[in-house]
Amino acid sequence: MSDFRCIAPDVKLGQNVRLAQFVNLYGCTIGDDTKLGTFVEIQKHASVGSRCKISSHTFICEGVTIEDNVFVGHGVVFINDSYPRATTDGQLQTEADWKVEKTIVKQGASIGSGATILSKVTIGENAIVGAGSVVTKDVPPNTIVAGNPARVLRVLTSDGSGQLTATAQREAPEDAKSKGSR
Ligand SMILES: CC(C)(COP(=O)(O)OP(=O)(O)OC[C@H]1O[C@@H](n2cnc3c(N)ncnc32)[C@H](O)[C@@H]1OP(=O)(O)O)[C@@H](O)C(=O)NCCC(=O)NCCS
Repeated sequence: MSDFRCIAPDVKLGQNVRLAQFVNLYGCTIGDDTKLGTFVEIQKHASVGSRCKISSHTFICEGVTIEDNVFVGHGVVFINDSYPRATTDGQLQTEADWKVEKTIVKQGASIGSGATILSKVTIGENAIVGAGSVVTKDVPPNTIVAGNPARVLRVLTSDGSGQLTATAQREAPEDAKSKGSR
């Protein structure tokens, strides 16, 4: 079978990275043992850590840093320009005309399919973003958020064995606010 992967020479691939067909990678870094699904595009100056799973049809743009052990569902879109324009003074914009806005996904986090992650946010360690959510603000670590805009549904706690479990009751929005979350 022909190889339909586009991997630019400047891509830094770790050990044992598994790439599906039709991935498009340029100028990015991918850590050890990470798996990328089909039609995943990762732009220059983006990085994905080790042991991550990036599901098919996801777009990871310049300015995005994904730490280790992160799950990204299908068709997740990251954003790096809050006020995009095609042109400046009637000419197509170049890189000189806008500034990349950064996003960080901390280790162990999971992002559900179809989520859109706006720029300038941090998704905290082990957080879970619900499918189809639009993340507009930082997601606190160890929480489940969902919706548009994404809001905290639950806080995850350790059961002592290293596993995180959802608290039985959802956190009331006011409680979440008082802890600095949303
Ligand atoms: C968010 C999620 C983790 C569930 O978290 P949870 O804390 O167990 O939430 P619950 O199922 O108890 O639902 C709580 C409320 O949130 C709502 N909700 C659940 N998931 C939601 C989502 N993705 N977007 C918006 N609302 C959501 C529920 O309808 C419910 O609302 P209600 O109280 O008005 O009835 C799960 O629904 C989800 O989206 N997982 C991602 C799955 C995914 O994309 N996997 C990718 C690989 S297939």
